[in-house]
Amino acid sequence: MADTISIVDNRTGKKYELPIQDGTIRAMDLRQIKEKPDDFGLMTYDPAFMNTANCRSAITYIDGDKGILLYRGYPIEQLAEDSNFLETAYLILFGELPTAAQQQNWNREITLHTMLHENIKKLMEGFQYDAHPMAIFLSIVGAMSGFYPDAKDIFNKESRLKQTHRAIAKVPSIAAWAFRHSIGRPYVYPDNDLSFTGNFLNMLFKMTELKYQPNAVLERALDVLFILHADHEQNCSTTTMRTIGSAHADPYSSIAGAAGALYGPLHGGANEAVLRMLHEIGSVSKVPEFIKKVKSGEAGNRLMGFGHRVYKSYDPRAKVIKRIADIVFTVTGKNPLLEIALELERIALQDDYFVSRKLYPNVDFYSGLIYQAMGFPVEMFPVLFAIPRTAGWIAQWEEMLLDPEQKIARPRQIYTGPVQRDYVPREKRA
Ligand code: CMC
Repeated sequence: MADTISIVDNRTGKKYELPIQDGTIRAMDLRQIKEKPDDFGLMTYDPAFMNTANCRSAITYIDGDKGILLYRGYPIEQLAEDSNFLETAYLILFGELPTAAQQQNWNREITLHTMLHENIKKLMEGFQYDAHPMAIFLSIVGAMSGFYPDAKDIFNKESRLKQTHRAIAKVPSIAAWAFRHSIGRPYVYPDNDLSFTGNFLNMLFKMTELKYQPNAVLERALDVLFILHADHEQNCSTTTMRTIGSAHADPYSSIAGAAGALYGPLHGGANEAVLRMLHEIGSVSKVPEFIKKVKSGEAGNRLMGFGHRVYKSYDPRAKVIKRIADIVFTVTGKNPLLEIALELERIALQDDYFVSRKLYPNVDFYSGLIYQAMGFPVEMFPVLFAIPRTAGWIAQWEEMLLDPEQKIARPRQIYTGPVQRDYVPREKRA
């Protein structure tokens, strides 16, 4: 028997049989269900897309109950162990791990595009010294739409590939310059002898030395963090990327919008919020008091870095990050906030409030501690998230563009305003 579902409309007594495919019914199949012939037809109401698939995607798979995350079928733990960020970005974008020749070519293309147009400096200089680097980042990425008008040719495969190289190569340069701007240091040009991550560290931290030598442990740790953040299926920023892209905007405009979504404290801004929260708590002895505040919902307090819309068990990325933290701290010394984080986690994992709601540490709970130990100010944390996620955004954008079922994104609403009424002249208004 075919997979179908029968629906009886108790308003009319009519029965409908709808196909089920991939555990899903098509919302448009409900439209035929009408009380009267001139009705609009039945819709679904799903604020925040809690139970609505918006696309078919072959990029990232998550099993939130089991804590599984796969990129193109490969477990995140294996990629974190054996891959590097550029290889993983290739996998996410093109569907397969690159051969040696493909990898070499890919690395070369990315390396060739790391420079920024000199005029971008002038844009950067327009920002106050205390501008949030994420505000600078998303503005500059959006401005790239003006620097590369060929990006508008979105149905040209070659043009899309060119923008992919440019975007992935230039986001570290933009991020590093935003950081240098905020601390009043001269911008550092890319060093193409270094790895993707090594060069990023160079553009961030080079001082007067002739050649910057990244610390190999920190370079690898940051690369693994980039792997972990490269994609995460239909999250808020990726949905924004797809939505803007569905209007056929160029990719830089879409990435700027996606970065705007990522900036929010409930999404990529969470690692920054975690650090602020740990500072606010201040000491291990204050943890129980803070947990009490969170549970009472006082002033909207949340345990930042905990909970996830999809993961209802330990976020697999958080497990890898916890391991990386130990390695990074052997080089940088332990982050004094770690003790507070460990105590928060210990208490929360035993507390019925968190257990019953399936609230576990997510990717952001420990990443901020690592970033801080590596010398990044908290404002840089969401920017560090945006760099690798650019690969995922572009892959998702291209998949959306090439999917014949996709159209401009345009949800419906349930109108709750006044019924039609006549305009009231000003002197007659109450
Ligand atoms: N601390 C305390 N209570 C929480 C938390 C938290 N971090 N997260 C959820 N809850 C409670 C929430 O109050 C609600 O309780 P009740 O049923 O009594 O009203 C219940 O758990 C379900 O929460 P929700 O808000 O309906 O869950 P959601 O799926 O809409 O939200 C979330 C997911 C990630 C926005 C949320 O868990 C949260 O705000 N976490 C803190 C921010 C954070 O760490 N974000 C990073 C997410 S991972 C990286 C990324 O993808 O960007």
